[in-house]
Amino acid sequence: MVRIQIKKELVKSPLRDLLKIVKELKGMKTYPFNIGDPNKFDFDTPEFLKNELIKAVKERNGYYSEAEGDMELRKTIVERENKKNNASITEDDVIITQGISEGLSFIFSSLIDSEKDEFLLPGPAYPSYIQYIKFFGGKYATYKTDESDSWQPDIDDLRKKINENTKLISIINPNNPTGSVYESRIVKEIVNIAGEEEIPVLSDEIYDELIFDNTRYEGTSSIAKDIPVIGLNGFSKSYLVPGWRLGYMYFHDAQNQLSRLKELIKSLARNRLSACTPVMKAFVGIYSKPRDHIEIINKKLKDRAAFAHKKLNEIEGISAVKPQGAFYIFPKVELNGRWKNDEEFCIDLLKNTGIIFPYGSGFDPVYGKDHFRSVILPPVEMMEEAFGKLEDFMKNSK
Ligand SMILES: Cc1ncc(COP(=O)(O)O)c(C=O)c1O
Repeated sequence: MVRIQIKKELVKSPLRDLLKIVKELKGMKTYPFNIGDPNKFDFDTPEFLKNELIKAVKERNGYYSEAEGDMELRKTIVERENKKNNASITEDDVIITQGISEGLSFIFSSLIDSEKDEFLLPGPAYPSYIQYIKFFGGKYATYKTDESDSWQPDIDDLRKKINENTKLISIINPNNPTGSVYESRIVKEIVNIAGEEEIPVLSDEIYDELIFDNTRYEGTSSIAKDIPVIGLNGFSKSYLVPGWRLGYMYFHDAQNQLSRLKELIKSLARNRLSACTPVMKAFVGIYSKPRDHIEIINKKLKDRAAFAHKKLNEIEGISAVKPQGAFYIFPKVELNGRWKNDEEFCIDLLKNTGIIFPYGSGFDPVYGKDHFRSVILPPVEMMEEAFGKLEDFMKNSK
């Protein structure tokens, strides 16, 4: 018998854990509405980008890059963030990661020194935030985002949730799982609180190109000015390359208050050597290359969001706020004693219909409970079929 004993608990994945049940549903048609991966539906990586990658591979870019990322790509990112979001950063403030996911593990592993260390997240939030914080031994609290106000952050609640152990205030905008786009005045209030409390802001903007219905959006750095912001972004979603694994973080930090954290993260990055060099090369200068695919995605998402919103609200026992950005809708379900909780509802639904929805409490046990998340990525016909089955299931469960 080996001698290792591990006290750590398994990391949960509310987006993928239900797939174990899918394996038991031998032969049943399933609807993979659980994962925010456009390439699983009728979206594909733009041709020019595929060619850039082929070129980068052929041009002998198979080496390890600098740990912080290819310098040319960091220049591209600096230009974009300084122009689009009024950030004040140089190449030294950018670290290229294998998706934002790697960035999150760098940040939370670096910042968690004791079990008291606490992080303020939007409730509900993208599950990896919660899971990494727990795994690295820290705590999290969620501030309310208000369903009756299009899932905008509730500033009074956010203020109440700050304590002396709070190390970061996190914003996910546009939001996963609610599809909400935060109003600038609300982001401004969050940033002001962060300034008063001397806490940096962590701003995840991975969906910042995917906004529909002319909704106004402003990046956090453009609002924060002299308050330190760690910005997170990546190419998975807006460039339709989730499997290429490319993201970045940047430190918008005029007074260098986060220099220790930045150096710690760079030291971690050195130990994993490099992000994928050919993929980085393919993205050099990306913002001056074709962008028509983004318009096409947004047009499709706008129509699909409208359909999902209308259809789901027609089903008795289900209500949903219309998403303004990202890939998701986060409906509420009346459990009415029929199911113990949202997890049981999603499992029962999956076993009976083949529809895979992650359960809401996986995004936050407080503000996510009694909800589920659906992607709005599938073509309307596929959503029509799946939501029709959901409707029958709700009727039969009365
Ligand atoms: C809000 C948010 N942040 C980060 C990620 C991770 O993205 P990636 O690691 O592909 O950059 C996702 C993926 O769904 C997300 O929704």
